[in-house]
Amino acid sequence: MLDIKHVTKVFFPGTVNEKVALQDINLHINEGDVVCVIGSNGSGKSTLFNMIAGTFPVTAGTITLDGKDITKAPEYKRAFEIGRIFQDPTKGTSANMSIQDNMALSLRKGMRGLKYSLNQEKKNFFRQILEPVGLQDRLEDNVGLLSGGQRQALTLIMACMSHPKLLLLDEHTAALDPANARIVMELTEKYIAQEKFTAMMITHNMQFAIEFGNRLIMMDEGKIILEASGDEKRNLTVPDLIARFREIRNKDFADDEGLLTEGN
Ligand SMILES: Nc1ncnc2c1ncn2[C@@H]1O[C@H](COP(=O)(O)OP(=O)(O)OP(=O)(O)O)[C@@H](O)[C@H]1O
Ligand SMILES: [Mg+2]
Repeated sequence: MLDIKHVTKVFFPGTVNEKVALQDINLHINEGDVVCVIGSNGSGKSTLFNMIAGTFPVTAGTITLDGKDITKAPEYKRAFEIGRIFQDPTKGTSANMSIQDNMALSLRKGMRGLKYSLNQEKKNFFRQILEPVGLQDRLEDNVGLLSGGQRQALTLIMACMSHPKLLLLDEHTAALDPANARIVMELTEKYIAQEKFTAMMITHNMQFAIEFGNRLIMMDEGKIILEASGDEKRNLTVPDLIARFREIRNKDFADDEGLLTEGN
């Protein structure tokens, strides 16, 4: 499905600001895999997503999606097949456009040249898929009027509507209050189960990373330092993860805050 081979990313190479953000990453993801990505701040998680989505070019290595080498494909082309949601709820939708226009635009994704049209059938479809988040009667409201949680739910719905081959979720509930985070996460789980999406999800919540999905990877200093899947993953505990992180890093942390939130 997704094959990442020897991917390295160096920012500002050859300067005093040189930063090796990814070092020789190798990762194979199968169709239907749901991979949780954990690791401390600056460990390279978002950079890995940026390489997959084509936001920045790789310094070395190759990325293949469904047998097609996409290493040099521009971001907008990859976006037809790769859906991405960020932490910031304002990023995935246009504030000054209505919910239905945002949705129609996202439906059109991948169908270049088709005229933008919004008929009754589409509106009914939108209403139906907005119902679980209670937005079904607000099709004409501008997205800027929505709360952060509602907006993130809409972004998720839009990303899933275009049936991406791969869904990249970058701490997409981190900016929401606990109640909204739970709603958006439940929606995420529902869509992934229902549509059998292949997905990668960055989270700082280790308990959640253990419970969600079938695979887990831990990153540190631009490398994948731990991988677990299936039963091994399900049987992990947060103290296990912290112990293994300490062992690999050969460092001691006062508590799991070091791994969860602080840069280290
Ligand atoms: N566009 C960029 N230009 C220069 N350096 C960058 C850029 N993006 C990331 N970096 C650097 O690469 C390293 C990895 O950053 P990245 O954003 O991938 O970390 P992360 O694991 O997503 O962290 P967080 O948990 O804080 O989101 C960091 O040292 C960061 O400063
Ligand atoms: Mg990040």
